[in-house]
Amino acid sequence: MVLNLTWFLLVTLLSVKLRAVLSRDFTLKDIIKLHSSATPYPGGFKCFTCEEAEDNYSCNRWAPDHFCPKNTRFCYTRHQMNAGGESVSVTKRCVARDQCVSTGCVEQEGSMVCISCCEGNICNLPVPWNQTMAIFSTSYPLNQENRLCPGFKTSLFFFIVVLLNYY
Ligand SMILES: *[C@@H]1O[C@H](CO)[C@@H](O)[C@H](O)[C@H]1NC(C)=O
Ligand SMILES: *[C@@H]1O[C@H](CO)[C@@H](O)[C@H](O)[C@H]1NC(C)=O
Repeated sequence: MVLNLTWFLLVTLLSVKLRAVLSRDFTLKDIIKLHSSATPYPGGFKCFTCEEAEDNYSCNRWAPDHFCPKNTRFCYTRHQMNAGGESVSVTKRCVARDQCVSTGCVEQEGSMVCISCCEGNICNLPVPWNQTMAIFSTSYPLNQENRLCPGFKTSLFFFIVVLLNYY
């Protein structure tokens, strides 16, 4: 009798614990913890990657166990919704800049397709649901990438020259 009760309690406890593990939602912290490995090249980054997943969640849960190729720079997200505004298809990729020119939302045969791009390690966690979210978010304006740097390097160079002369 006592043994039976112990057994019953043990099984109950186990099933409760198992359910807790299965339903635990998945966060950015998990990904970083799970996939922290050495960066293969300077500025290496990862994106969530999936092709035509059912929705945001099923895309993210298998993501991202490898670094983006060196010729890519941004994380891309394409989200297709039906007329009722529910997810139909989610695609996330590492892309080069030219694939980020068409961000925004368009209507296609009764469904809505929103595309967003972002810059930064695994920055494509969410999916865009509307025009305000379907943007290209990068830390610098598109055409200014190389304008600031040379000037900065030149002034640094002169600063060092001046410093060396001074001593
Ligand atoms: C997408 O999924 C992630 C986790 O799987 C969640 O944190 C995020 O809020 C979701 N975003 C949207 C817009 O559905
Ligand atoms: C877009 O979606 C976000 C989050 O669901 C919401 O806060 C925002 O008001 C929406 N914007 C428009 C223009 O519908």
